[in-house]
Amino acid sequence: MSNLVLSQKEFTLFQHYIYEHLGINLGAQKIYLVQARLAKRVKQLGLGSFKEYYDRLTTDTSGEEFAYLSSLISTNVTSFFREAKQWDFLKAYSAALTEHPAKKLRIWSAACSSGEEPYSLAMFLDTHLAQNSAWDIKILATDVSPRVLKAAQTGTYAQKACAGIDPSLLQRYFTYEAQTHSFRIDERLKSMITFREYNLVTGNYALFKEGMFDIIFCRNVMIYFDKPTQEQLVKKFHTLLSKEGYLFIGSSEALTDMKQGFKSKGASIYQKV
Ligand SMILES: C[S@@+](CC[C@H](N)C(=O)[O-])C[C@H]1O[C@@H](n2cnc3c(N)ncnc32)[C@H](O)[C@@H]1O
Repeated sequence: MSNLVLSQKEFTLFQHYIYEHLGINLGAQKIYLVQARLAKRVKQLGLGSFKEYYDRLTTDTSGEEFAYLSSLISTNVTSFFREAKQWDFLKAYSAALTEHPAKKLRIWSAACSSGEEPYSLAMFLDTHLAQNSAWDIKILATDVSPRVLKAAQTGTYAQKACAGIDPSLLQRYFTYEAQTHSFRIDERLKSMITFREYNLVTGNYALFKEGMFDIIFCRNVMIYFDKPTQEQLVKKFHTLLSKEGYLFIGSSEALTDMKQGFKSKGASIYQKV
């Protein structure tokens, strides 16, 4: 089983399936990566070839095998307070908001991975906005992978993962669990966030109301999608953002030819115009 080889023909099947269902465009050079990541699963299921696994995947109506595949294929790397400049921007933004009468703030963390992004947002906004006022803040955190969402929902992180959190925030919002050497997030903060499974490429956008989000974070995921998929997604985000709402993307991503309806605010942040 260890020398299970993914043939070119089998790779093409997975390439098409993954593009159609995840929006991820795997170039020809990714054949070895796909082979390495899927081989373990093929073995686990006791199957004899990648084609058998493909058949299992495409005939599974429960969606469970697709969920498993998406966890294997996509990169879930994330961290607390990732992209420092964006948090500087948010500091100024929330300072400006405190001048306004309190109101609702709705945020979508659109590929939230194991939760570091939405929890960073919750800590940040609770510190800078909610604590001294009556702001109603809700964060929707979604991802295609049930595995990372499950981790996000536990809200417990190893000591190493918490390295990027300011010690004062760590003390205020987490409880240290000596037995597991981990930090558990405060329940009140967790209650600001709703976690849901959602596929940005094939998901039903009719579930959302136009203009419902003041801020959308879609960071470090569009980079895996091809141009037409990115364009469609950016258009949808535009529709879902409130007037003058903000779209945050990853620092290695850009809206270069898709800026229509947005103006750049620097640091990979775009405002709906
Ligand atoms: C690199 S992580 C980014 C996490 C976080 N946004 C950040 O910047 O730190 C990419 C995430 O996108 C998710 N993802 C990949 N394809 C997706 C899709 N089609 N719909 C929704 N999420 C997807 C993956 O499961 C993964 O958790």
